[in-house]
Amino acid sequence: MQNTPAQPATPTGADDPRCIPHKLTAPLPVGAECKYPAYTADEQDVWRTLHARMETLLPGRAADEFLIGLAALKLEPDRIPALADVSRKLQKATNWQIARTPGLLDAHDFFSYLARRIFPCTDHIRARSELDYTPAPDCFHDIYGHTPMIVHPRFADFYQKIGQAALNCKDPAVEEGLTRIYWFTVEFGLIKNPGGPRIYGNGIISSSGETQHSLTDKVKKVPYRPETLAAQPYDIWHFQDTLFVIESFDQLEQEFIRWARDHKLL
Ligand SMILES: [Fe+2]
Repeated sequence: MQNTPAQPATPTGADDPRCIPHKLTAPLPVGAECKYPAYTADEQDVWRTLHARMETLLPGRAADEFLIGLAALKLEPDRIPALADVSRKLQKATNWQIARTPGLLDAHDFFSYLARRIFPCTDHIRARSELDYTPAPDCFHDIYGHTPMIVHPRFADFYQKIGQAALNCKDPAVEEGLTRIYWFTVEFGLIKNPGGPRIYGNGIISSSGETQHSLTDKVKKVPYRPETLAAQPYDIWHFQDTLFVIESFDQLEQEFIRWARDHKLL
C-alpha cells in the first residue's frame, strides 16, 4: 500500500517480484542507520529527470501545503536524497522518521511503522524505461511524493492514526473501507485551496499523466466524507474518474477520527 500503482499503459506488475510484499523478520534500519547506496550516474540522472519534470508540472496543480513541505525538505534536484537526511528533517518538523525498506512491505508491518511515526521508504529508483510508470515502490514515489505531506502537522498526525486504526482493524469489510480511505486521501487526495482544487495525494503527484488528468473536468470531484470514500471502489490500472476534496487537513484528520471511533478502531 505504501506504493500504490500509478497508471500503466497496460496492466503489468501484478506478477512483478518487486511487488510481492515483504514480511519482516528483523527491524528495518531507521534514520541515521540508513546507508546511502552506491547509485550509478544513470540512476542519479533518472532522479534529475523526474524532479525537473515535476518542477514544471506542480505549480498551479499541487496543493500549497504539499509545496510548502517540499520546500522545507530542500530535496536535491540533481542527486537522490539520502534517507538519513530526509529522516532528520522530518524528525525536526513533525517527529516522524524514515526506515529503509527493501521493497513493498506486508500491510501489517507497514502500518505498525506508521503507527510509530516511521515511514518505510525505498531507496532504489525506477529504471529509465519506467519514467512514466513503475508498478514497484521506488524512492521518487516515496521521497518526492510522500514525505512533503508528512511535514504538515495535521497530515502527520492523520497518517499515524491511519496506521493505528489499521492495526486495530479485524473486520475485513471495515478493512476494505480503510484501504479505500487511504487510497483516496494519502494517494489520490485533493484539497480546496484559494485557487481551486489542488493535489496532495502522492499517487497523483508521482505520475505526470495523472497529475495533468486529475484537475480536469473529466474527473468528478466529491466532498470528503470518510463514509463516502469507504464505499467507493477504485481501479488501480486506470486514471481515477472520481476524486475526493478535503476542506482542510484539520477536516481530514477530525473526520477520520470520527469514522475510526465509530468502527472502534481508535
Ligand atoms: Fe504511495
